[in-house]
Amino acid sequence: MARKRPDVVWLPTPEKVVDSMLRLAEVGTEDVLYDLGSGDGRTAIAAVVRFGVREARGVEIRPQLLRRSREDARRAGLEGRVNFVGEDLFRTELAGATVVTLYLLPRLNLKLRPRLLGELRPGARVVSHNFGMGDWEPDRTLGTRDLFGAGEAPRVEHRLHLWVVPADAGGTWRLTGPNGEEFGLEIVRRFQKVHGALLFDGGRVPLRKAKLRGDALSFAVRGAPGLRPKARFEGRVDGDVMVGSFDAGSGVPEARGEWTAERIARKER
Ligand SMILES: C[S@@+](CC[C@H](N)C(=O)[O-])C[C@H]1O[C@@H](n2cnc3c(N)ncnc32)[C@H](O)[C@@H]1O
Repeated sequence: MARKRPDVVWLPTPEKVVDSMLRLAEVGTEDVLYDLGSGDGRTAIAAVVRFGVREARGVEIRPQLLRRSREDARRAGLEGRVNFVGEDLFRTELAGATVVTLYLLPRLNLKLRPRLLGELRPGARVVSHNFGMGDWEPDRTLGTRDLFGAGEAPRVEHRLHLWVVPADAGGTWRLTGPNGEEFGLEIVRRFQKVHGALLFDGGRVPLRKAKLRGDALSFAVRGAPGLRPKARFEGRVDGDVMVGSFDAGSGVPEARGEWTAERIARKER
């Protein structure tokens, strides 16, 4: 069978921009980083050497770049912590990564997008050098001026985008408060953007300042019966269950408590 041709040429990310990518993803010792289309292996190697990640993997289709990456990792004594895999990045498993770095092309990012959203766990970070993900807006973007100090401007512009993979929080939930009070919770989600309402007998109030970052959901409500005027909810989504804490904002300890929610329908009503 003919070997698959590369989808994009090799153009290395400057080392300084590599470090900015890793800082933007806030990589640390608990992370497992995958660089998809890893070129000479510099991002995977930097993630271990300069940022101390637990493990890094580079996926590269060009045999000569793969050989060079493996040789550099061997010389740096990193065997076991950096691993270079010779395969098509569109076939590689992604579930093991907590951070994915990319320097591909817009259409390749878009082709990867459903797998990044579907296979990475909520809270995983994706950083792309220069290219976006269509209508999945980044959580943060840095431009050349954020990356280089005055007087060290590079010859070409660089942009970095960060996305945090959002939990699947959409649908209708049954929310139970600290004293057994029950509400409906309706959440409409598009990528990491959420809005919705708290439902009760005979009424509904919109969620205010609703935010989803990874599996962390927070929102405030005003004017729901049985809740103080400025109730604020923070919780974590774990499959079809949410558990969180609640602060009525009045500063008194009785105004705090735990809440849980259970998803009763994947679609909002
Ligand atoms: C623009 S370079 C980026 C290299 C590296 N990530 C960096 O930032 O320095 C893209 C790399 O992806 C590799 N590549 C292209 N298509 C690929 C595919 N389908 N599977 C794996 N690697 C691929 C190319 O050989 C090239 O090394």
